[in-house]
Amino acid sequence: MKKAIYPGSFDPVTFGHQDMIIRSSAIVDELVVGVLNNRAKNSLFSVEERVSMLKEMTASLPNVTVDSFDGLLVDYMKEHGVTLIVRGLRAVTDFEYELQIAQTNHVENPDVETIFLTTNLQYSYLSSSIVREFAAYGGDISKFVPAQFIDRIYEKYNIKK
Ligand code: PNS
Repeated sequence: MKKAIYPGSFDPVTFGHQDMIIRSSAIVDELVVGVLNNRAKNSLFSVEERVSMLKEMTASLPNVTVDSFDGLLVDYMKEHGVTLIVRGLRAVTDFEYELQIAQTNHVENPDVETIFLTTNLQYSYLSSSIVREFAAYGGDISKFVPAQFIDRIYEKYNIKK
């Protein structure tokens, strides 16, 4: 039984995240999408809103659950019996940061391994911060996020479309 976690901020969730969730859930038995409840970070959506959007988005994937975590990822994983982390690599610019957190997590708990999936070429430019930047100026975000979330994102910037 291979249980993995796909952790992130998901602020907001994008088509890139969706693609990663679909592909990684196909190679493990169980996938937890772990939403970081980072109090220090000024997030656009509350952790409850982000969890709720991810639950909507993954409703049709039977082996995917969504949860939030506070503090260290390795602590959450120990508590929940998860030893595998899945992360996406978009470009070489992601590599240094990802390598550092993967190695730190492995040092903290040698049972923890990280696997990387290369992002779909279609979404290799995409990030939550790009979505926020476009939405803040009323730009078209329909190619970036699932349709049901578009209005919720604009609402955060008091933009009516
Ligand atoms: O979507 P993001 O913001 O790139 O995700 C980063 C995340 C949530 C995977 C990372 O910041 C994380 O695991 N944070 C929890 C705190 C932690 O365990 N830090 C140790 C890593 S060095």
